[in-house]
Order: sequence, then C-alpha cells, then structure tokens
Amino acid sequence: MKLSLRLIPILAVAITIVTFIVARNQVRSEKHGLRADLERRSEILAESLQESVEPVIQKGSTSQLRRLVERFGNREHLEGVAIYDVNGKVTAVSSKLDTDAETPPAVFAKSVELNRPVGEYEKVGSSTMYVYALPLHRDTQLAGVLVLFHDASFIEAQSTRIWRDALWHVVAQVLLIILITFFVIRWTIVGPIAKVAHWMRDLRHGKFVPFPYRTSESFLGPLSTEAASLAQKLAEARAAAKAEAQLREAGDSLWTAERLRASIHKRLRGSSLFVVSNREPYEHVHGSSGIEVRVPASGLVTALEPILYACDGTWIAHGAADADREMVDANDRLRVPPDHPHYTLRRIWLTKEEEQGYYLGFANEGIWPLCHIAHTRPVFRAEDWEHYQRVNEKFAQAVLDEIDTAEKPFVLIQDYHFALLPRLIKSKRPDARVAIFWHIPWPNAEAFGICPWQRELLDGLLGADLVSFHIQAHCNNFLESVDQSLECRIEWDRFTVNRNDHITLVRPHPISVALPEPTEVTEPGISAEQNRADILAQVGAETLFLGVGVDRIDYTKGIVERFRGIESFLDKFPHYKEQFTFVQFGAPSRTSIKRYKDFVAEVAAEADRINRRLQSERWKPIVLFSRHSSHQEIEPYYKAADFCLVTSLHDGMNLVAKEFVVSRADEDGVLILSQFTGASRELHDALLVNPYDINQIADMIRKALEMPAEERQLRMKRMRRVVREHNVYRWAAELISELAEIRLDSPEMAETR
Ligand code: G6P
Repeated sequence: MKLSLRLIPILAVAITIVTFIVARNQVRSEKHGLRADLERRSEILAESLQESVEPVIQKGSTSQLRRLVERFGNREHLEGVAIYDVNGKVTAVSSKLDTDAETPPAVFAKSVELNRPVGEYEKVGSSTMYVYALPLHRDTQLAGVLVLFHDASFIEAQSTRIWRDALWHVVAQVLLIILITFFVIRWTIVGPIAKVAHWMRDLRHGKFVPFPYRTSESFLGPLSTEAASLAQKLAEARAAAKAEAQLREAGDSLWTAERLRASIHKRLRGSSLFVVSNREPYEHVHGSSGIEVRVPASGLVTALEPILYACDGTWIAHGAADADREMVDANDRLRVPPDHPHYTLRRIWLTKEEEQGYYLGFANEGIWPLCHIAHTRPVFRAEDWEHYQRVNEKFAQAVLDEIDTAEKPFVLIQDYHFALLPRLIKSKRPDARVAIFWHIPWPNAEAFGICPWQRELLDGLLGADLVSFHIQAHCNNFLESVDQSLECRIEWDRFTVNRNDHITLVRPHPISVALPEPTEVTEPGISAEQNRADILAQVGAETLFLGVGVDRIDYTKGIVERFRGIESFLDKFPHYKEQFTFVQFGAPSRTSIKRYKDFVAEVAAEADRINRRLQSERWKPIVLFSRHSSHQEIEPYYKAADFCLVTSLHDGMNLVAKEFVVSRADEDGVLILSQFTGASRELHDALLVNPYDINQIADMIRKALEMPAEERQLRMKRMRRVVREHNVYRWAAELISELAEIRLDSPEMAETR
C-alpha cells in the first residue's frame, strides 16, 4: 500500500480524536458558564421581584400582582413569571406563559417543603427551562411561591454550534494534512527513492554513474559511501566474470593473479619466498611536500610484484633513495606497497664507495655493456670487481639472515648485479631452492670471454639450481660460455650443467606484463577521440598522426637512431610534415656514469637538431619529456598513438612493447619493434626493424601510418592474444614451478620431471 494511503487515515483519526476531546471540553465549560450565568440572573431577578411582590401580597391585591409579573416578564431569555399560593394555585402569571404555568412545576413542591429557593432545569411544554422557585412570606408565614421560567434552549444551541464548528475544523485539517502529506512524501521520499532506483538500474546495466546524493544531502546522503563501494564491487565482480568468461573461451590458458596465487601456494608447500634485486620496488625521496614514494622505472619491478603479492614474501634490495632510511623499522624492514601492504621490503645499505664500485662500476660499466651488443666498450676495473664481490657477500649475508628460520626457502635472485650470489647462498644453505633470472641478454661466448672475471661470474651463477633467461638463444650463449671456460659436464638435450656434482638447469622464461586491472577494463573512461585531443593539447600539437616512444635514457635503447629514423621519414615523405608528432618519454637513468650523463645530453641535442631543421612556426616533429613519468601518465599516450616505436639496439625482452599492446584495448595501433629485442621473438605481428637501418625505420613509420585499419586491427588482436596468454603471471608461475620441481637430494636425481 502506498505510504501516503497508510499515513493519511492514521493522521485523520488522530486529528478527529484530538478535536473531539477539545470540543467536548469546550462544550462542557461553555455549558457550565452559561448555566451559571442564567442561574445567577434568575436568582437576582427573583430576589428583586420578591421585594416588590411581598408588600402586594400583604395587601392582597391580585390585580396589582398581575401587573407586576407582566412588567418583569419580558427580560432576556425570561419566558415568564408566575405566583402560586401555598396550594399550588396560580395567583398571577405573565401572559407569555399562559397555560404552561397552570400546573406548578416540580420545584414548587420542593421549595414549599424546604421553605427556601430551589432552581432546576425542567421540561416545560416543548422546551427545556430553568425554573426558579422562591418562597413568599406574609409576616413570616409562607404565603405563596414566586416562580421564574427562563428559557435554557439557547445553551443547547450554543453547544450544537461548538460541535458543528469542531466538525468543520476536522474536515479542514484532514484536507490540509492530506495535501501536506502528499507533497512532503513526494518531494522528500518518493522523489529521492525514484532517483536511487534509477541509479541502481543504471548500475545493473553496467553504467557506473556517481550516487545521486552526497553525504550531507537528503536523508539518503549517508548511503553514498556504501553505494560507491557497492558500485565498485559490482564493477569488479562484473570484470572478474568477464575475465572468467574470457578464460573459459581461451581454453583455460589464461593466467591471472588469482590463478598465480593458488599455483604459488601449491608449489611453495608452506615454504617462504625471498626475492633479491638491486633496484627496490618503492623508493622514498624527500620531495617538495615531504617524503614521497616513487616506483622506479624498471621492468623488473613491474614483473616481480605480482609474485610477492601472491605469497606475502620478502624482497631484499638496495635502499638507494635519500629518505629510505627514515621509513624502515629497527630491522631495516617495511611493509609495502605503502598504501596497501602485501609483502615485506628489506633494505640493504651501501656506502658511496660500494655503490660506485659494485653498481655504477662493475655492474653498469662492465657487465651491462658486455652483455648488450651496443658498441659501448665495457670497462673492467679491479677495484670495481672488489666492490662487486663485497656487495654480493653483503647481500648473501642479509639473505642468509632472512632465511635463517625458514625451512626449504625459495630464493629468486634478479639480474646481473648478483652473479656471485647463488653460490654464496647455496654453499651455506643447500636446502634452499635458488634461481637467478638474468633480465638482460647473454652475448655469445667470444663477446663474454673478454671479461677478466668471466670464470668467477659463471661459477657464481652455477651455484643456482636454475639459471633463466628470456629466450633460448641467451640460454645457448650462456651454456657455450660455460663450456668454453669451466670444468663441467653440459647435457645439451636437457640444458643442464653439472659442476662439482651440483646440477643447474638453464631455461628460457620470457618475462611479460600484467593484465590490466578488471576495473580499468570496465570503468567508463573518456572517449578515444577526447583522449587524443587532450594529448595533442598537452604537447601543443595540432597534427593528425601521433607516435610514442618510452624508455630509460640508455644507449642500448636506440633513441638517437629512432630520432634519425623520424627525421628520415619526414625527409622522404614530406607531406607528413606538420601532420605528425612523435612524443618520446625518456627517464634519465644511471646519470652518475659519464656515458649516461652524456647520453641524456646527446638525446636532447639530437631532438633539438632535428626539430630546428624541420620545424615550422606552429609545429615541431619531436616532443621530448626528459623526466621520470609514471605509468598513469604514459598510458593515455599509448592509447592515443598511431604507433609505438621500440628501437633497442639490444634488449633482453623490452616490456614497453608489451605494455603498449596491453593498453590497446581498442585493438588498434601499430607496434614497430627492433628485431634485437626478446619481445620480437613473440610479437610476430609487430613491424620488425633493424634499428641501425635508419631508412628502414622511416619506411616502417610510413607503413604503420598507412596500414589499412583491418590489417592494423588483425595484427593488434593477435599480439594482444599472445601477451594475454603469455603474461607475467604465467612467467612467474612457470619459473616457480620449475624451481619447485627440481630435486635437491642428489646430483643423479636432480632432474625436472
Ligand atoms: C634493466 C635491468 C634492471 C634494472 C633496470 C633499471 O631493466 O635489467 O635490473 O633495474 O634496467 O635500471 P637501474 O640501474 O635504474 O636499476
């Protein structure tokens, strides 16, 4: 039943009852007042008459008595006056009373009997009257009774009027209440509820709009926080269901964070997981607004976090930022991510000299250029090598402390900073399962052979149970290096190395990126056109075509070659001038190393040279952002670009290529990819280029811009399927499961199933 229909009768009955009680009380007091007034008047009149009548009775003059009663008989409400003798016989009566007074009223007898005045209401004829009887005396002897008849019907009439007025009041108030109730309910209850119902209907249909009331608005305002979280949960559930459906469609081949979590729990069988890397996942820096958190530009960080999330492990890394020490506990630990803690970060402190020798020197001036064929000569200094060994020992000690109480721990070491770490850990804790993932390429044996400490590095690595690279070619190069420099037995069919009775598996595990968060997929964003217009406005361009590049500013990334390719493209196809803008995000990196510092300047100078040569008044071809940019800042550019240009001279994998593909939910856009990246082995639908071939880069840019939409979409669709199926969850799951399946008991048994 409608709320108003229920409310109105209740209010009407309540008003009626209240009005009735008030009216009844009013009638009572009115009646009482009128009666008292009438009785008082009757008494006064009777007494004044008595004074005039008794002398006449004394005289016995009946005619005079009649005149007297006639004269007094026409007062207000007075019906008449009668005088009776003691026997009740009328002596004199006013003419108006006539026959009604022939028989004495009831008060006559009482008055005679009591010999005092008596007044009562009686029915006289057809009317109710107040009859007042007053004994008359002749010399102290009762000689008769004076009776006044007052009409009392006006009292009843007055009561009736009060009741009638009360009735009208009830009617008017009920009508007013009906109207007020109707409008109040409609404006303050039905209207808002209808709005909320509308919001819920939209939600049900997948349209996520904000709750119509804010906390302080309307009585429904307090629901807004709960409603927002309800909408969020619904969006996530929807996206999860969609991902689930896609999973089924993909024949269960899709790895998700959830599936990784379950898989890791199964594989670890209660053991704990420890990750070691040089670069930490979160850095604390002193910024303009106090201590700020930064996620460093490193593909490694992006890839490893899902594993730590899945098992609440410990990540051991160098605390390199200027506010890092202020954020740790007494054991140099903190929980991260800072706003949503899921795992522990243990920071290791290095002295300036250690950092210089181990990180900048040996790792980045030695091993990095050694492993990347980018024609920058590696520099090997004995003092750097000393620091490299000391820091590896320092990290080994920290790992041993962390795993001290852990049974059969899993230790995942990352990259070229820690080649010695596997042996250092394994020699103290043979029960630990140790893997090292080498995120950069491994060059051929001749190239690697120039390192004066190649034997030590290889021996350190072979302390691991598993050594992993992105691609098989790097595994092969590694095995050849081992073969040429160490005493050992290599089984090429199983890709294992047996050195001093310890077996090391050497396997490729191509790293990847995470799938977008479900909410990112479903949240209604701005339209593609609007995004592109916003991006162009941000870079001050009015062009039709947009290209994007994202890198750390590193000489291995081929950034200068890329710019020259763009210059050549505009020279060869000049009609694209003023029609095309290329946005390059370049995060300065390792700038304490002269080669890197110079390279930042070199990149800026090259962009400048090309811009100056080609630019017009309203246009320049290259926009260079030489600063650290977050993924959130870069993603809209990925989405708006016609193509992404990756021209690494040599790259283990290159996750920018995969991030670009993942961000293109519209299944559009072209990837131009260096053939010297690990990613080119998987993304066959990219336009592959040799970054040293400037002419080819120019042609590929043109091909990308002129590719028919159908082909573009088909290529992107296929690349997206590859990245979706070979995502980082799968990488992590396969790496851990390979490590978990290794038997540690004896060398003979150290095989994978
Ligand atoms: C490469 C390496 C990572 C490193 C990253 C950033 O991806 O493989 O180990 O973290 O570059 O370099 P940085 O020296 O700044 O850590």
